[in-house]
Amino acid sequence: MTEKDFLPNPYQEFPDKGGVSWKAPSNIALVKYWGKKPVQIPANPSISFTLDNCATTTSLSFAKKEKSDSISFDLMFEGRPKDDFKPKIQTFLERVERYVPFLKAYHFTIETSNSFPHSSGIASSASGMAALSLCLMDVEKQLDPDLDETLFYQKASYLARLGSGSACRSIKGHLVQWGQHANIPNSSDLYGLEYPFEVHADFKGYCDTILLVHKGQKQVSSTVGHQLMHGHPYAANRFQQAFDHLDQLKPILKNGDLEDFIKLVESEALTLHAMMMTSMPCFMLMKPDTLEIIQKIWQYREETKTPVCFTLDAGANVHLLYPSSEKDKVCAFIEDELAQHCENGQYIHDYVGAGAVKING
Ligand code: DP6
Repeated sequence: MTEKDFLPNPYQEFPDKGGVSWKAPSNIALVKYWGKKPVQIPANPSISFTLDNCATTTSLSFAKKEKSDSISFDLMFEGRPKDDFKPKIQTFLERVERYVPFLKAYHFTIETSNSFPHSSGIASSASGMAALSLCLMDVEKQLDPDLDETLFYQKASYLARLGSGSACRSIKGHLVQWGQHANIPNSSDLYGLEYPFEVHADFKGYCDTILLVHKGQKQVSSTVGHQLMHGHPYAANRFQQAFDHLDQLKPILKNGDLEDFIKLVESEALTLHAMMMTSMPCFMLMKPDTLEIIQKIWQYREETKTPVCFTLDAGANVHLLYPSSEKDKVCAFIEDELAQHCENGQYIHDYVGAGAVKING
């Protein structure tokens, strides 16, 4: 597929008004996307577990306009107008307009809400952009009823990527890979792909407890972090590592080899943060409690041989990953040892999910 394949067929219908709703989950990368080229082309391939509980629900209503010369929309977040989110959505809509040219024909009302607490430090851009992209595709489906289902989801992922790179991995379920890789058939820089290889049963329903270490605004945004990979002294090695890790994951995911899974996933998380600490200017997003949690996870794993590991996104929160069969034990460990390092003792239990769903309203 090339960019041209995402230009639409001539629209057959133009309803006067309507509304659609989608719920899209967040995702947690095992091999991290860090570094990009214009426009939203990843410098390296990545793969993530799609989550389930942490999700954004977006409703998009549309009404035909008299004049169709510009993009216009109102934005509501959790029931209230949210003007400070508008510039990001405006940029996104301008970027995708070429691919969904009905945009200027309608005035839109976007109503969005997250299942996770506001400013929990959980990135809502992935689930938010994915939900909005699916809504746009749903409108396109009404204008072009012949639109095929595979293309519908691929294009939703394509559009979501243009909003936020990792959002392209929040459309489909379980494990989603993004970024061209010679050994992964049909892999693409343009959209996420349901992982095409065999995956061991242990990884279905894998648990992710998100330990909310720091809920405030991040000191450096992901966008700036990606930029700092340009001219970074270790960038080339880091990108190669991500390619190699995807190769190494194939037998690990197939055989359910948790020991090697843990090594690879933790190495990815720490390499990501090492890139931040070695960029110019350098920065650090981990907090003292992030490190305390990591130490406790290592100690607990050593003592109990429980296959729990951590990963980190571009922030201080820790994602604790473990098989569902270990849930009771790990929940006790979290309560006894880890919750004290979370802001207000807060954490969120989540698990690997099946991807975005349409909400019938
Ligand atoms: C560390 O997708 O948030 O979470 O494309 O600029 O919106 P933009 O960046 P974003 O970057 C996410 C980076 C990451 C790793 C990952 O999810 O792969």
